[in-house]
Amino acid sequence: MNVRLAPSILSADFAALGEAVATLERGGADVIHLDVMDGHFVPNLTIGPAAVKAVRRVTKLPLEAHLMISDPDRYIDIFAAAGAQTLTVHAEVLPHLHRTIQAIKRLGCRAGVALNPSTPPSVLSEVIGDVDLVLVMSVNPGFGGQAFIPNTESKLQRVRQLLDAAGSDADVEVDGGIGPGNIAQVVTAGASLIVVGSAIFEQPDPEQATRALRARAVEAARARGSR
Ligand code: DX5
Ligand code: ZN
Repeated sequence: MNVRLAPSILSADFAALGEAVATLERGGADVIHLDVMDGHFVPNLTIGPAAVKAVRRVTKLPLEAHLMISDPDRYIDIFAAAGAQTLTVHAEVLPHLHRTIQAIKRLGCRAGVALNPSTPPSVLSEVIGDVDLVLVMSVNPGFGGQAFIPNTESKLQRVRQLLDAAGSDADVEVDGGIGPGNIAQVVTAGASLIVVGSAIFEQPDPEQATRALRARAVEAARARGSR
C-alpha cells in the first residue's frame, strides 16, 4: 500500500496560511490536514469552515477536515461545501456513527473516523466496511507539539488487521507527535496516511522537512511491502 503525507497547518503562521500551504505543496505534501477544534470536545479553539474555504482557494491538494467537535452532524455539510474531500469525525461523540458515515458519503466526501488514545478499535467493528479512513490519534487531541504515545504502534497494527479482515483498503491515518524519529515505525506498523505538524513548521526549512519526512515514509513503506 502507498503511503501519503498529510501535513497539518496547526503549527503554521496563521497570518500567512497561503504561504504555509504553498510551502507544503513544494515539499511534496499529498494531503492538507486541517484541525478543527471547538473548545468543547477538546480544550482548544482553532479554525472553521471559512479557513477551510480559504485554503481550498490556494491549493489543488485534497483537504481533510479533522473535526474535533462535539456535534459534527450539524456541520458536515458546511465543511463539505467549504471544499474538504475527507471529513473525519470522532467516534467518541457519535452514538449514531453509522448514520454519520453514510451522511458524509452522501455529501460526496470520504468518511474518516478518528479514535482517541483511550478508544479501542473495537468500537468500529460494525462499520469497518463502511469507512474510508480510520484516524488513530497518537496524542490526546487538542494541541500540536505533544509527545507520541507508544501504545499507538500496536493499535495501528490492530486497526490495519481489522480493515484487512473486512477486505477493506481504507487508509489507516496516524496523528500526533510524528517526526523523523518515529515516522518509519508508524508506517511499518501499518499507517498509510501520516499527519505531521510541529515537526515541519518548527524547522528552519519547512519545505525541506516535508520532503525529508515524506521520503522517509515512502522508504519505510517500500521496505514493508517487500517483506
Ligand atoms: C492534535 C491535532 C494534530 C496536530 C499534530 O489535536 O489533531 O493534527 O496538529 O501536530 P503535531 O505533529 O505537532 O503533534
Ligand atoms: Zn489532526
